[in-house]
Amino acid sequence: MIDTIDKIKKEIQDFKITNEEELEAFRLEFLSRNGKVQNMFGMMGKVPNEKKAEVGKAMNGVKVLAQQKFDDAQLNLKKSSQKEFGAADDITLPVEPTYSGSYHPLTQALNEMKQIFLRLGFNIADGPELEDDFHNFTALNFPPDHPARDMQDTFFVRKTDDQSEQDLVLRTHTSPVQIRLMKDQKPPLRSIMPGRVYRNEAVTAKSYFQFNQVEGLYVDKNVNMGELIETLVMFAKLMYGSDVKYRVRPSFFPFTEPSIEMDVWWENEKGGQWLEILGAGMVDPNVFESVDVDPEIYTGFAFGMGVDRIAMLRYGIDDIRLLYENDLRFLEQFKS
Ligand code: DAH
Repeated sequence: MIDTIDKIKKEIQDFKITNEEELEAFRLEFLSRNGKVQNMFGMMGKVPNEKKAEVGKAMNGVKVLAQQKFDDAQLNLKKSSQKEFGAADDITLPVEPTYSGSYHPLTQALNEMKQIFLRLGFNIADGPELEDDFHNFTALNFPPDHPARDMQDTFFVRKTDDQSEQDLVLRTHTSPVQIRLMKDQKPPLRSIMPGRVYRNEAVTAKSYFQFNQVEGLYVDKNVNMGELIETLVMFAKLMYGSDVKYRVRPSFFPFTEPSIEMDVWWENEKGGQWLEILGAGMVDPNVFESVDVDPEIYTGFAFGMGVDRIAMLRYGIDDIRLLYENDLRFLEQFKS
């Protein structure tokens, strides 16, 4: 009996399994219901009692051997079939292409700007894109029929002669949010106000009928021009790096006195040029009066930045229209 068992054991050991067919042949020959292992156990009845323990142990060893050989071979075949394709084992191979979106360059620039001003202690406020004449112009010290209004020709949504109603416009700047903020909250105030604005402009590489601004307002006792310039220089350095080339020039806005503008040097193929990125100034006392803030007690500075310009400078974009055409060939270059 032990001889028979040894013979089966040797057959199992010598069996070559190199593919699926041979694996199945092995299973049929040894492990199936009529296989050699099962038949071997069937011979147990002929074994004398005193030998049963010894023989049973040997048979079990053979059974375990056969099952083990089968399992190992099955695993190896599975592994090597994956090797043929390669993919499951090689994590350096490119994956199936999938499409993923990305933030628009304007959103990316705006997010950077928000981060900078949050660091400088500003919070974020907003206001409506459809504005009335009072907030967009009059409260900002643009009297009716004042020529300064011509600089910001816009889209009138409602034009009325009725004294009880106001003209409605698509806001020409984010400055009206300053008015809303000062009507809602008492100083001290330190906020930025991002948003979209509209102007009746000829469309060119540099101007568009809609664009984005970030307004800023800081109102408290003893706010001065030095703090304004320091804030703007800090912004320019955090946005463009500490070696940024900038200049500050005097300017005019009805709602600030004195007023300034800031330019940043844009190095390009044609050599380079100054690009205006913002207007700013000390809040005009007339503006404080329109919102019942006492200009004898409070002073403040304000600024308005062009997000589009800042994004164009930041990412080297030479035509503002690209920002609004939603051409994927352009947008896909801003995946981060
Ligand atoms: N609102 C101005 C514009 O759109 C920009 C501006 C200039 C905003 C000076 C300000 C400021 O707050 O103080 O042209």
